[in-house]
Amino acid sequence: MARIANKAAIDAAWKQVSACPEKTLKQLFEEDSNRLSSLVVDTAKLRFDFSKNHLDNQKLTAFKTLLESCDFDARRKALFAGEKINITEDRAVEHMAERGQGAPATVARAKEYHARMKTLIEAIDAGVFGEVKHLLHIGIGGSALGPKLLIDALTRESGRYDVAVVSNVDGQALEEVFKKFNPHKTLVAVASKTFTTAETMLNAESAMTWMKKHGVEDPQGRMIALTANPAKASEMGIDDTRILPFAESIGGRYSLWSSIGFPAALALGWDGFQQLLDGGAAMDRHFIEAAPEKNAPVLAAFADQYYSAVRGAQTHGIFAYDERLQLLPFYLQQLEMESNGKRVDLDGNLITHPSAFITWGGVGTDAQHAVFQLLHQGTRLVPIEFIAAIKADDTLDPVHHQTLLTNAFAQGAALMSGRDNKDPARSYPGDRPSTTILMDELRPAQLGALIAFYEHRTFTNGVLLGINSFDQFGVELGKEMAHAIADHPENADFDPSTKALIAAALK
Ligand code: F6P
Repeated sequence: MARIANKAAIDAAWKQVSACPEKTLKQLFEEDSNRLSSLVVDTAKLRFDFSKNHLDNQKLTAFKTLLESCDFDARRKALFAGEKINITEDRAVEHMAERGQGAPATVARAKEYHARMKTLIEAIDAGVFGEVKHLLHIGIGGSALGPKLLIDALTRESGRYDVAVVSNVDGQALEEVFKKFNPHKTLVAVASKTFTTAETMLNAESAMTWMKKHGVEDPQGRMIALTANPAKASEMGIDDTRILPFAESIGGRYSLWSSIGFPAALALGWDGFQQLLDGGAAMDRHFIEAAPEKNAPVLAAFADQYYSAVRGAQTHGIFAYDERLQLLPFYLQQLEMESNGKRVDLDGNLITHPSAFITWGGVGTDAQHAVFQLLHQGTRLVPIEFIAAIKADDTLDPVHHQTLLTNAFAQGAALMSGRDNKDPARSYPGDRPSTTILMDELRPAQLGALIAFYEHRTFTNGVLLGINSFDQFGVELGKEMAHAIADHPENADFDPSTKALIAAALK
């Protein structure tokens, strides 16, 4: 039986979405004096202002019809109930259990794994591994991007340990850390869901070699495994107490809440990590409970689909006006593009609307002086997200933070209002959409809620597109070909261009 049952209703709803009259943002504000209160959502210590998007009551009604046709309620329920919604891999999707949401047995297992993490952190703090100053975290993709973001965003001033996250197989990345860290005071966390990823295994081996070379007595004894494949870690000789497992049903790009978040838990301390989880849980509750027109992830997905499917936008830009969130666009690239960068629906048919946006971004105010020219005057439509914290955490003159916020707000206003000039080169068309996400301060709870918001928005986009957001077969072909080249560079059956490259560089 087809998994997408209501095809005719879905097509009709999309038609309804496309048929909504186009109005400018200026018109929308003029026509509805309540616009701000209807399109601002305050939840989980975050404020989402969607009012500078072209959503109005008519579009919301059309999108709600689409949501219903796509069985959103049932699919959201199935997600939280731990049903096997990742159909191509026959798996449930249970990262929310790490935040206390979901089937009781799954939540209990997550708590047990967290308890193991906590015990190991306490052992490290108590000096079981001698004096430890540094943690070298090795992983890639979802096993690196989350930890990297958390460490950079939350532990700049107050990190209890010095953490470096290395993902790239390029030796430059590891070598840079080797220069900084004392091998005798370093622990190595090898993070890999599968514990087979080639780059991670090679980097782990080189870290062990580095320790040996510097006379560390038992390098293997200083290795910690963060994995959903504990058997593989055991095979590599890692003692059970140093294996921090997590469930197979947690996708790599959703895993920072699990043992993969170990470096953040170590550097922040357990209370800080718990606040991150609690922030995520607050967003989970909002996503489950709020009506679509007041539901931040759902409204964001409506805007995504509108700009993508109706207005033809190809990308969206994420600009945090906060230096500590400079890695957020990289994290979100994997979350959104690996989840929804697909071309077939749940029944294996080609999808009829464009899939995920290309996600990109930067930090304000830097980006203003680099890429905002195109955003204000280029020919492409790029919906923008501004993210900022009201409270400053630097100790400089408050004018710094005021200037930062002033700029964030000014950019959103300028994109929307535009300005005419008799010289076309100096004219700004305006009517360009943006969403502003404000938090009182950047702390673990707020960041947890923000990340969970993006997860649920990604899920909702997947539902509206009728796709499975939780597999990633697109990455496999390239991996296979890399193996083929590595194994037999001389006779790999490749195109002439690739053969010539191999001959030139890999002899
Ligand atoms: O190649 C893509 C991918 O499978 C991601 O989905 C994943 O986050 C990353 O590789 C790392 O995988 P692992 O955690 O198994 O090493």
